[in-house]
Amino acid sequence: MDVASVVSSLTTAEKASLLAGASHWKTNPLEDRGVSSVVFSDGPHGLRKQENGSDHLGIHKSNPATCFPTASALACSFDEALIEEVGAAIGEEARDQKVDVVLGPGVNMKRSPLCGRNFEYFSEDPLLSGALGSAMVRGIQSRGVGACVKHLAGNNQEHARMIGDSVIDERALREIYLAPFERVVREARPWAVMTGYNRLNGVYCSQHPWLLRDVLRGEWGFDGAVVSDWGAMSESVASVAAGLDVCMPGPRADHSQAVEEAVLSGSLSLDALDEAACRVVGLEQKARRGRALPFECDYARHAEIAYRAASESAVLLENDGILPLQGTEKVAVIGAFALLPRYQGAGSSKIDPARLDDPWSAFLDAGIDMGYAQGYDAASGDSSEELLDEAAALAAQNDVAVVFAGLPDRFESEGFDRKLMVMPKGHVSLIERVCAANSKTVVVLQGGSPMEMPWRTKPAAILLMYLSGCRGGHATVDILTGRVNPSGKLAETWPEHLQDTALGRSFPDTDREVLYRESIYTGYRYFDAAGVEPAYPFGFGRSYTSFSYSDPTVSFIEGGIEASCTVANTGACEGAETVQLYVEPCARTTFGERRRLVAFSKAKLAPGESVRVSMCVDERAFRLWDTHEHRWRIDEGCYDVLFCASSRDVRLTCDVFLGAGEGQSPFPVDSARSCAPKHKATASYYEVVPGGFSDAAFAALYGAPLPPRRPVKPFTPDSPVSDLGTTFLGRQAFRIVDFLMAGQSKHMSDDMKAMMDEMAADMPLRSFTSAGVPFGVVEGLVDVLNGHWAKGLARVLNMGR
Ligand code: BGC
Repeated sequence: MDVASVVSSLTTAEKASLLAGASHWKTNPLEDRGVSSVVFSDGPHGLRKQENGSDHLGIHKSNPATCFPTASALACSFDEALIEEVGAAIGEEARDQKVDVVLGPGVNMKRSPLCGRNFEYFSEDPLLSGALGSAMVRGIQSRGVGACVKHLAGNNQEHARMIGDSVIDERALREIYLAPFERVVREARPWAVMTGYNRLNGVYCSQHPWLLRDVLRGEWGFDGAVVSDWGAMSESVASVAAGLDVCMPGPRADHSQAVEEAVLSGSLSLDALDEAACRVVGLEQKARRGRALPFECDYARHAEIAYRAASESAVLLENDGILPLQGTEKVAVIGAFALLPRYQGAGSSKIDPARLDDPWSAFLDAGIDMGYAQGYDAASGDSSEELLDEAAALAAQNDVAVVFAGLPDRFESEGFDRKLMVMPKGHVSLIERVCAANSKTVVVLQGGSPMEMPWRTKPAAILLMYLSGCRGGHATVDILTGRVNPSGKLAETWPEHLQDTALGRSFPDTDREVLYRESIYTGYRYFDAAGVEPAYPFGFGRSYTSFSYSDPTVSFIEGGIEASCTVANTGACEGAETVQLYVEPCARTTFGERRRLVAFSKAKLAPGESVRVSMCVDERAFRLWDTHEHRWRIDEGCYDVLFCASSRDVRLTCDVFLGAGEGQSPFPVDSARSCAPKHKATASYYEVVPGGFSDAAFAALYGAPLPPRRPVKPFTPDSPVSDLGTTFLGRQAFRIVDFLMAGQSKHMSDDMKAMMDEMAADMPLRSFTSAGVPFGVVEGLVDVLNGHWAKGLARVLNMGR
């Protein structure tokens, strides 16, 4: 039966039942009507299928699965085909483990290097995030499994993530924060989109009619299902009216009941219910068709893909020629991460790897003559004089020292943000001591996001592995010994110091109203505009060989341009180069970034080989969001098209002249034909200076009154646990929370407990439903807190009825 026929045969109650989860991971089935449960599972860098004990924070065990490098690593490959392959492998494991929809990829922008969840996201650049997110979706969905792109939108910090309000001006929203979602939805047609926990410009994303109906469905043509993040749904009726289809996790009979009652009373239209029910049945039918497709799942082959993904994502930051090693040196292997590598992040994406390599074993396999010194404690990162002395002595006795260092688990996780960009002191002291003991020191960095490296001029080489998944150990050693030539390029800027970034120490915003004062100036856009020198720019990465660029051309093609150049491998070994294409307007009428990435292409070349690299760029690449007309426009004029080896390493330039809206032949600058300026932005957005984005400048740009602070009282189900501390009763309720958490914490490691502690204070009361507390009980509790004792207690004691 087609979707419409199924839905028209259902009662109002049945339709409403489809809109709430039945359990932590499954939607409600209507077996006798032929609708089965759809099974979700995290995502995004492997599968976290839980059989017993369910949670959305990575606490309970899950089935063994292949752990691929996380998105921050994968993005450095700049390789869509590779990421599609990773997606397909995740899709195959989903089929094998009877999962219908994988919760990923995450295409949120990296607004600050401090966001605790950056390791799960690809980049600070919207084009790169969108392109790689699309590749991942294509891969997953090629195996008859759905992808659920997350978290729409403006979900860029973990602090107060469930109650924060991301206040973003129209241009930044369109050009930066929505752009990757738009690309993925239009190009890869994901089966589902997950709404963020946060509010966006005052309204929860799960009940945002403009976001879900006007933009996602109306403008981008999304025809899949909109699923709430786990515990993100705030108001049942408002969310369905706004276009939310599935409230997760379940059971949430209260959600279905509220929707049914609203339809019966006329406060929610039957059309809204029918539409949502159709989307859930549509998702179920896709899943059903997917389940019937033949598939193969070969975990050994997936481990090989994980190895390739780790190898191609590694970024060589420094090398004075010491790498690759000859293989005959005696090597001091230093640092606990050599035996206990950091290879993935904590939280909902944490998977149980079917297999795990470590660099030490990989060195053994490679037959390297070596010794080991621990250097620091793997969990805390702390060192001691004894450990440092031991490491320095070992380094001095060997030809080469390889120090494994970076960010321990406790330093970054879903659920909280980093406060500083520093590495543990123990790691820094270790690097400094070892470098002093042996000038031939190589540092291998493991961690999900940028770190300050005040020591970075001391080692002979620095290899960045990020969180490289279950085969990162072998990939590391194969790069160090030259079996693999590193080809990764940074998908985010590595700042010298935290205070060099647009947000500096003001991230995360401790207010619940998070003002995106920097507007479009994220990542390299800020560094370029403010003239700040980063430690390593966006797009940067070294190789064991060298490449030359020549013969650039740009020509017009249907709907855009084609840019080509010749790249030659001028060194002595095989290698791969990612050519990055940026455009830069020659004259500006509107504020904007100096240059932006519009295309990239990776070429693998034997020594002496050259190849013509061609990149097609559609005209969207040139567009700006016009805040007066509320539509995209292209400023007429001349643009430099830059062929680059990084965002700061321009190798070749061509000019192209664009008429407003359509392409014309390349033409020199003609600024007289540019459009008249139309903007509300103050000078600070044209002349970006560090620290220059004030509230007043932002308010003018935002064009509407900035949101006032929300009052603590009266309490509502959206009130965070931390607000309860303002009343006697609230403090008692806090104890209940502690009690509920204590049950969970039995299963937790120390870093998970720390994550829970940080998260607990920001959790809205309604999120107790994720732990199985009926929503009516939460409402009863809220009544009690507001002084309506009798009514509230009666509901609590009646389990919410
Ligand atoms: C995360 C989502 C995840 C969900 C289910 C939430 O806490 O934000 O990314 O998919 O849990 O585990």
